[in-house]
Amino acid sequence: MELPSAPGQRKRYSVQESTLAPVSPRPGELGRGPLSARGAAGNPMPASLKVECGTDLDMDKVVEISGLSKAYTQGHEQILVLENLDFSISKGEFVSVVGPSGSGKSTFLNIIGLLDDVYSGEVRLFGRRIEDLDESEKAVLRLKNIGFVFQFDSLLPEFTVLENIEMPARVLGGGDAGRGLELLKRFDLEAIAGKFPMEISGGEKQRSAMLRALRNGPALLIADEPTGNLDRHNSGVILDDLRRAAGLGAAVLMVTHNDEAARRADRVLRMSGGKLGDSVP
Ligand SMILES: Nc1ncnc2c1ncn2[C@@H]1O[C@H](COP(=O)(O)OP(=O)(O)OP(=O)(O)O)[C@@H](O)[C@H]1O
Ligand SMILES: [Mg+2]
Repeated sequence: MELPSAPGQRKRYSVQESTLAPVSPRPGELGRGPLSARGAAGNPMPASLKVECGTDLDMDKVVEISGLSKAYTQGHEQILVLENLDFSISKGEFVSVVGPSGSGKSTFLNIIGLLDDVYSGEVRLFGRRIEDLDESEKAVLRLKNIGFVFQFDSLLPEFTVLENIEMPARVLGGGDAGRGLELLKRFDLEAIAGKFPMEISGGEKQRSAMLRALRNGPALLIADEPTGNLDRHNSGVILDDLRRAAGLGAAVLMVTHNDEAARRADRVLRMSGGKLGDSVP
């Protein structure tokens, strides 16, 4: 689908349709050779996803939310988890959200990350209202523009670190081991490129999962308790990485239970009673 060129700073973003057929590797690409064609368990790399849409995005307006409410039904009751929230985050900004367990932090991230579309209010990603996006546009946004990091890493055990990092690019029909390696080098992790997840530490797994989230150059990085499972040292390293990701231009939105971690962000918000407000130190 071709969209008309937009004026000013709006950038048009279109993803070419790729086929479901295996992608032939170019020199330097992750290919079908011994290292990367198959994981240790012989699983084939995923075929590329069929994406066919053009998306008109304003990369400076990463997230803009007004009047967001969300309720869950429990029995005959409606439990209001988010109530009339306003929020925004810009390019290159690092924002953390703290708040008690059950206050709605993950619910909030899931809506922004296009994992939950049942809510009221207006949520805009890159200038577009989520409600106006069709499913293929959402799929492209999730793959290209939004990176996720969760508390427990989700690396695929039968693939090396580098192959895991390249996975989001391959799913989009690309893949270039050189770029994955570059990313590993930038974050001082090139030594573990060829290792399998079982051969690296918990901190390294989490960092690798973060680089996978960064692989397609997302403008928004969502991290739900990324240091929740790590010791102090590794938490510090992950927080440095998140800061570096913001320095590279991503908007970084992190939920944490750790006040010290939260204070590493540019802005700390507190989720409480369905509201999101400035955190009082
Ligand atoms: N799918 C669901 N169905 C019903 N209620 C839900 C569902 N998911 C979450 N909730 C409820 O919504 C509230 C907010 O949950 P959420 O997971 O967003 O909290 P949280 O702030 O992330 O908590 P934690 O810090 O423990 O991760 C909780 O009371 C939870 O029980
Ligand atoms: Mg949570």
